[in-house]
Amino acid sequence: TAVDNYSFSHLHPQSSTSPTNDALDVALANSQKHGLPNIAVSRSQGKFLMLQAQLLRAQHVLEVGTLGGYSSIWLASASPNIRLTTVEVNERHAAVAQENLAVAGVADRVEVIVGPGADVLPKLVDEVQSGTRGKFDLVFIDADKENNWAYVDHALRMCVQGACIIVDNVVRKGTLAHSDTTDSRILGARKVVEEVGKDERLDGVVLQTVGEKNYDGFLIAIVK
Ligand code: DHB
Ligand code: MG
Repeated sequence: TAVDNYSFSHLHPQSSTSPTNDALDVALANSQKHGLPNIAVSRSQGKFLMLQAQLLRAQHVLEVGTLGGYSSIWLASASPNIRLTTVEVNERHAAVAQENLAVAGVADRVEVIVGPGADVLPKLVDEVQSGTRGKFDLVFIDADKENNWAYVDHALRMCVQGACIIVDNVVRKGTLAHSDTTDSRILGARKVVEEVGKDERLDGVVLQTVGEKNYDGFLIAIVK
């Protein structure tokens, strides 16, 4: 956490860059005020997501699991041209996210869709395949861990070649390596790692992280 504090303060100095630290702090404080769980990505992870979107020159980004919109603010801030579609199962969380996105000045480029990913993603697939919605360059999956692979599988039908799919929280304090686990969230993490490894449409890696959000990690995959 000290390293996150030190490095973030130098690499994202106060008010000098977008998104502003003020908007990010407001988003976290407003989320806490409304009782949302404190499980958003860290500041450094958020910045990493924004930089990924910039590297990809992403125009259409999909997020599954909005929560209070903290990572959404980072993703939408990657470029003034970016359009983010973000899916949130909890209506109350989605309303808080809308407030936070407005404070950050990105609400006009973010579409928050309320509903379970398992219901919403097939509808998005239909829209992309009928040409009424653009294909995605970057997908961030940070929702119910049991459906990780199902979400990647849907995303594959909506992505451009060379797109990046990132899945949050696959390392779970190292429990990803526990082959005898009965925890459904760990099973969901193991499933997505194993399926991505088997899938010829994807090439991926697990990148372990440590810091203010403890010991965890991302699965990062490229759509070939
Ligand atoms: C949990 C979920 C998350 O997406 C996260 O980043 C951290 C924790 C959880 O469900 O506990
Ligand atoms: Mg997460």
